[in-house]
Amino acid sequence: MDAIRTEALTKHYPVGFWRPRAYVALDGLTLDVGQGEVFGFLGPNGAGKTTTLKLLMQLTFPTSGRAEILGRPVGDVSVKRRTGYLPENPYFYDYLSAEELLHYFASLFGYGAADRRRRVSDLLDEVGIGAERRLQLRKFSKGMLQRVGIAQAIINDPEVVFFDEPMSGLDPMGRREIRELILRLRDRGCTVFFSSHVLSDAEALCSRVAIVASGRLAATGELSEILAFKALGWEVVMGGLDDAVLESATASGHIDRATALGGRRYALHVPLSVAPDRLVAEFVSQGAELVSVNPVRETLEEFYMRKIGAVSRDRGLADVGKAPASSE
Ligand SMILES: Nc1ncnc2c1ncn2[C@@H]1O[C@H](COP(=O)(O)OP(=O)(O)O)[C@@H](O)[C@H]1O
Ligand SMILES: [Mg+2]
Repeated sequence: MDAIRTEALTKHYPVGFWRPRAYVALDGLTLDVGQGEVFGFLGPNGAGKTTTLKLLMQLTFPTSGRAEILGRPVGDVSVKRRTGYLPENPYFYDYLSAEELLHYFASLFGYGAADRRRRVSDLLDEVGIGAERRLQLRKFSKGMLQRVGIAQAIINDPEVVFFDEPMSGLDPMGRREIRELILRLRDRGCTVFFSSHVLSDAEALCSRVAIVASGRLAATGELSEILAFKALGWEVVMGGLDDAVLESATASGHIDRATALGGRRYALHVPLSVAPDRLVAEFVSQGAELVSVNPVRETLEEFYMRKIGAVSRDRGLADVGKAPASSE
């Protein structure tokens, strides 16, 4: 059984007052997320990430398509107890302290007083809120509220959590702490589905990712697969290279270009079509020595831009720029 499944999930928002039209925020999203996965849902602003999470949380309803959590339709009440959700911009009654707020959420889930005290205190420790836990939330920074939101999302020890941009508003240190928290959740067997427009968040965390752009799935798979998908060539660093040898290798197309590193060292950019081991053997036989060989891969950033470029061209750029402001 999958933790999360969506099937051709589609959401149109009506826009325009006099002549309402449908704005396609999500267009036929089909995804499955296995139990215990940390799944990154990536895409630029306006891609449809929050819409997808709201559909999964039933905060809004699909135009067509369906979604399941833990093998049950998203509407199923028994699923609520087993899931947690961090909204994109968590908003809480801000005259409560962090501690009071979490006590309140814990009581909603039916935890008794002693249990509640322990849970709330452990959770606040876990998300890195210290003595501030007694302050009213209106005195909290965005980053601190984000942590309270995460604590709220996991208060019921959920099997599946949905985090909408969990790292937003956090400084690099805070981002790292949240990454570590996500990995601890995974180690406890919890499935984590999180959205982000920051690729480095996913690189350090995810077993698999989906990339959405303009409401459509642009790619899905293991990050390693997606990155390996487009190897660009090799970077071979060698020392003791003769200029004459270098020139002839360049002329014959075995090297795209060579960057001098000082001494007689060069970083050679070798095209994918050339076997780097044979090239190295050839150079070594002419008196050079090998320093390093590395594959040159497309970075996630480049992949992301290429996919988004493809999707927005496909859809007509006019559509992308005209996204209406959210009114929900
Ligand atoms: N309630 C709404 N009414 C009209 N359009 C909306 C509404 N909510 C979101 N949208 C539009 O749908 C698109 C997807 O938004 P969203 O899911 O919030 O994207 P993301 O979370 O990836 O930034 C955006 O163009 C947004 O403006
Ligand atoms: Mg969003």
